[in-house]
Amino acid sequence: MGGFQHRPVMSREVIELLASVPQGTVVDATVGGGGHARLLLEARPDLQLIGIDRDADAVTAARATLAPFGDRARIVHGGFEDVAAIVHSETGGHSSTSGNSSEGNIMGILFDLGTSSPQLDRPERGFSYWGDAPLDMRMDAAQGLTAEQVVNEYSERDLADLIRRNGEEHFARQIAARIVANRPLHTTADLVDSVKEAVPARSRRRGGHPARRTFQAIRMEVNRELPNLADGLDESVHLLAPGGRVLVLAYHSLEDRIVKERFAKWTGAREQQPPGFPVEPEPRGLVRLLTRKAVRPRADEVAENPRARSARLRGVEKLPTSAGS
Ligand SMILES: C[S@@+](CC[C@H](N)C(=O)[O-])C[C@H]1O[C@@H](n2cnc3c(N)ncnc32)[C@H](O)[C@@H]1O
Repeated sequence: MGGFQHRPVMSREVIELLASVPQGTVVDATVGGGGHARLLLEARPDLQLIGIDRDADAVTAARATLAPFGDRARIVHGGFEDVAAIVHSETGGHSSTSGNSSEGNIMGILFDLGTSSPQLDRPERGFSYWGDAPLDMRMDAAQGLTAEQVVNEYSERDLADLIRRNGEEHFARQIAARIVANRPLHTTADLVDSVKEAVPARSRRRGGHPARRTFQAIRMEVNRELPNLADGLDESVHLLAPGGRVLVLAYHSLEDRIVKERFAKWTGAREQQPPGFPVEPEPRGLVRLLTRKAVRPRADEVAENPRARSARLRGVEKLPTSAGS
């Protein structure tokens, strides 16, 4: 494989927000090429890092990038939806959340969501609507479901629903109908052709590549991106020590909505509930918000790295137990 070139997004803001966590172990839940991880280990020589990625190429790349840090960095091939089990096995169980206590001893957890530049740039992975490749789109080549199965085996109605929901695509129904009429589809070009046939020419001239939203929707389905994010976040808050922080870089509104909802729930934000609503059994005041609104990339970063354009950064800090429920 070639080099794994991925420019870390909003790295200045991410490092600033993690630079003040207490000494200990941090988790990069989407280590990718190790871009953020390297900057963090350089900025904080007293931190150890566990890096996770479900993509075997990313794991190889991160191990190479982080080799100079020796055993301060350990890289695990796995999914962040299993972050608790991974942290427990890497720390010999010492970071476990004991009983129903929600306190661990991890000082920071970073989620930088979505695809990496190498995933998009390597046509054979099937993520890109440019070029022609088998309909794959799996981030982890060992997982079962492929994009080819989704487009050829899902019912027209399920396809339309997922393209509308995950892609926020206006022409979802028409695209699903074209896909079903053109079956079997084998390559990314077959899928692009079906989208182009379904989307009226007038609309195709607006809003970037006409197949962008459909590809996003199918990729999210293949990789279970939204359910995995919800699971990973739910586990991560319990792994944190007081003063530890969770940061998330989201790249579209569906991801960002899950992050916002989780953060609001952890802060126990009462304004989220109608007056007189019965008090829910969720622990309250687990965290404080570090970002009232999502932080967006600076204009100069977007100019240099277009992939930063849609990034939204949010963070929370774990409060001491006494401030909790
Ligand atoms: C935007 S890249 C991260 C880049 C990294 N922050 C850097 O600076 O090099 C996102 C990474 O998350 C990985 N990923 C996506 N879903 C994952 C999951 N559920 N568990 C672990 N890694 C995941 C992808 O394989 C990809 O390498």
